[in-house]
Amino acid sequence: MVLAQPPNQHVTKAFDLSGKVAIVTGGARGIGLEVSRGLAESGANIAIIYNSSKTADSIAAEIASTNNVKAAAYQSDVTSQSDIESTVQKVVKDFGKLDIMIANSGIASCVAAEDYTADQWSDIMKVNLDGAFYSAQAAARIFKQQGFGNVVFTASVSATLVNVPQKQAAYNASKAGVVQLAKCLAVEWVDFARVNCISPGFIATDILDIHPIEWREKWLSMIPANRMAQTYELKGAYVFCASDASSYMTGANLVLDGGYTLP
Ligand SMILES: NC(=O)c1ccc[n+]([C@@H]2O[C@H](COP(=O)([O-])OP(=O)(O)OC[C@H]3O[C@@H](n4cnc5c(N)ncnc54)[C@H](OP(=O)(O)O)[C@@H]3O)[C@@H](O)[C@H]2O)c1
Repeated sequence: MVLAQPPNQHVTKAFDLSGKVAIVTGGARGIGLEVSRGLAESGANIAIIYNSSKTADSIAAEIASTNNVKAAAYQSDVTSQSDIESTVQKVVKDFGKLDIMIANSGIASCVAAEDYTADQWSDIMKVNLDGAFYSAQAAARIFKQQGFGNVVFTASVSATLVNVPQKQAAYNASKAGVVQLAKCLAVEWVDFARVNCISPGFIATDILDIHPIEWREKWLSMIPANRMAQTYELKGAYVFCASDASSYMTGANLVLDGGYTLP
């Protein structure tokens, strides 16, 4: 087992992603959009994977022209192993290789645990856990052939705490699964890829819109920072995980939550 060791270099160079190729699932909106932008700002070429977004092509064009990189959008459903596998292979054909997989797609729901139907439970698991795994697996098949690669999962603080007042056992369990999955893959794939998680706290995106607006005051009162983050406040952490700046970090879970998990 050998974790790849880059040469010592100026620290700003260690964060540089010039010439790298990154896939960002759910990369056309919310957190994934700012991750796509952040990686491109660091020099990476970007393949955005979207499911239902209508603006992915224009976003890819904007990212390409603003950052002088190559960017393109691909429609794919992460819940389908064959769909995401063929999409990743298409990206590699179009871009020549793959360096970084950001498995970020996710959905949320609010259901009392005793009331879940089988479909309500598995809808969450299919996107958040199965989809994250299928995305990482498709990338790892490329990484193993190449001998290098990097996976970053978007997990959540919900992997370790129980959010209130919302009832979301399926979401929380799916994210706990992602954190443990990342540890397993970090060990299994250490010869050819690093695997890490980023666990955001409350970030202002559409995913929170399923909850009553009044709950936001309650959430803020539980966060020492007393505010949510804007999506751009996460992008530096993704660049860190995806770059040589974190070359000895694998199986880690970076929590970015304004102190929410601490009290
Ligand atoms: N916002 C927060 O407070 C927060 C906190 C912790 C963790 N997270 C996690 O952060 C990640 C991004 O969420 P967000 O906050 O940016 O929410 P969002 O704005 O609702 O974005 C969700 C993303 O997931 C994609 N997606 C959903 N189902 C998909 C499928 N079947 N196949 C492919 N892509 C699919 C969507 O793509 P389309 O639009 O193309 O359908 C969209 O880009 C999620 O994993 C979420 O659980 C969010």
